[in-house]
Amino acid sequence: MPNPSILILPGDGIGPEVMAEVRKIIAWFGDKRGLRFDVSEDLVGGAAYDKHRLPLADETMAKAQEVDAVLLGAVGGPAYDGLDFSVKPERGLLRLRKEMDLYSNLRPAQCFDALADFSSLKKDIVAGLDIMIVRELTSGVYFGEPRGIIEEGNERVGINTQRYTESEIERAARSAFELAMRRGKKVCSMEKANVMESGILWREVVTRVGKDYPEVGLSHMYADNGAMQLVRAPKQFDVILTDNLFGDILSDCAAMLTGSLGMLPSASLGAPMENGRPKALYEPVHGSAPDIAGQGKANPIACILSFAMALRYSFDQGAEADRLEAAVEKVLADGVRTADLLASEGVEPVSTSQMGDAVITALDASI
Ligand code: NAI
Ligand code: MG
Repeated sequence: MPNPSILILPGDGIGPEVMAEVRKIIAWFGDKRGLRFDVSEDLVGGAAYDKHRLPLADETMAKAQEVDAVLLGAVGGPAYDGLDFSVKPERGLLRLRKEMDLYSNLRPAQCFDALADFSSLKKDIVAGLDIMIVRELTSGVYFGEPRGIIEEGNERVGINTQRYTESEIERAARSAFELAMRRGKKVCSMEKANVMESGILWREVVTRVGKDYPEVGLSHMYADNGAMQLVRAPKQFDVILTDNLFGDILSDCAAMLTGSLGMLPSASLGAPMENGRPKALYEPVHGSAPDIAGQGKANPIACILSFAMALRYSFDQGAEADRLEAAVEKVLADGVRTADLLASEGVEPVSTSQMGDAVITALDASI
C-alpha cells in the first residue's frame, strides 16, 4: 500500500505561517507514530495568481483530485483586492470546493476548558461543549435557479431560489448520520418545514435516511428555534445537520460560542473515492489575517486542529486525532497563549512557532 497522500496549499498571509507548524506535526506523526504521508505542496490564491495569473492552476486542481486530503491555509489579501472577480484569490478555493464536489462541510464547535472564559456566554453554558455542525455546501439558495435582478413593472426584483433534490439532501444526511455514529449518536436536523417546501422535503428525506441508522437519535427543529437553542443551551446538541444558508449562519454562531477565530478548524467532504476515502479539504475557518501577517503572531491551532480532523476523517486515525487534540488542550491548560487568546494584560504571548513547538512537546509527553 502506498502512503496516504496530502496536498498542502498554504496560500496567502498567515496561511504559510500556520501551515509551517502543521508540517512539523505531520513530521512528528511520521517519526514517532510511523504514520508516513506523501506530502506535496503547491500554490493557491494570491500566491498562485502571482505565478500563473490564476488563483488555482489546472495542474494543482488535478493534483487535488488525486490526493487523499488537501490541507489549505488561507487565501486573499489587500494586494489582490483590485483583481477582476474571475481571478480573485477566493475563486481558487471555490474552484476546489466545486470541482471536488465537497458537499458536506463539517464545523466543530468545541470549548476547551482553559478558554471557557473567552466565550460571550456564561462559562457553565459552554464548558465541555462539543458539537458538530454539518452544513450542506454545494446546493440550496446560493446556487438555485432562477436567480438574478430583473425588471418588473417600474421596479427591480432580486431573486434567489432555494432548491434541493432528494439526492442532495440524502448525501448530506448520510454524512451527518455517519458522523453521529462515531460521536454522541444524536442528529438534530434544522430547516423551516413550517414555511418552506424545500424544508418539508428535507425533513422527509432525513427521516427516511435516519431509518438506516437506528442507533442514532434523530430530532427536527425549525432553524430559527435552533439559533435560539444554540445560545440558550448548546450542550443539548451532538450533530446538527442543516442546509447551506442556515448552516452558514448557524455555524458562525456556534463557532463564536467557543472564542477565537484562531481556534476553529473545518473539513469539507465529498463522495468516497475508489480507496473508500472521501474527497476531502481541511482548512481553518479564519482568513489570511493581513493585519498580523508576517509578524509571527498568528495562532496555528485552527490549522493544527484541521489536520486532526484529517487524521480522523480521511486516514481513520481517530486515536491519533484524539492524541493531537489532547496535546492542544494540554498546551492551553498550561497557559500557553498566542496574542489572540490573551484575555488579560501581563501574560506574555508566544509566537506562532512557539505555539507549534509547545504542541510538539505535549505530543512527545503523550507517548
Ligand atoms: P480573517 O479571518 O483573515 O481575520 C479576522 C480577524 O481575526 C483579524 O483581526 C485577524 O488578525 C484575526 N485572526 C484570524 N485568524 C487568526 C489566527 N489564526 N490567529 C490570530 N488572529 C487571527 O478575516 P478578514 O480580515 O475578514 O479577511 C482577510 C482576508 O482573508 C480577506 O482577503 C478575505 O477575503 C480572506 N478570507 C479568506 C478565507 C479563507 O481562505 N477561507 C476566509 C475568510 C477570509
Ligand atoms: Mg460565513
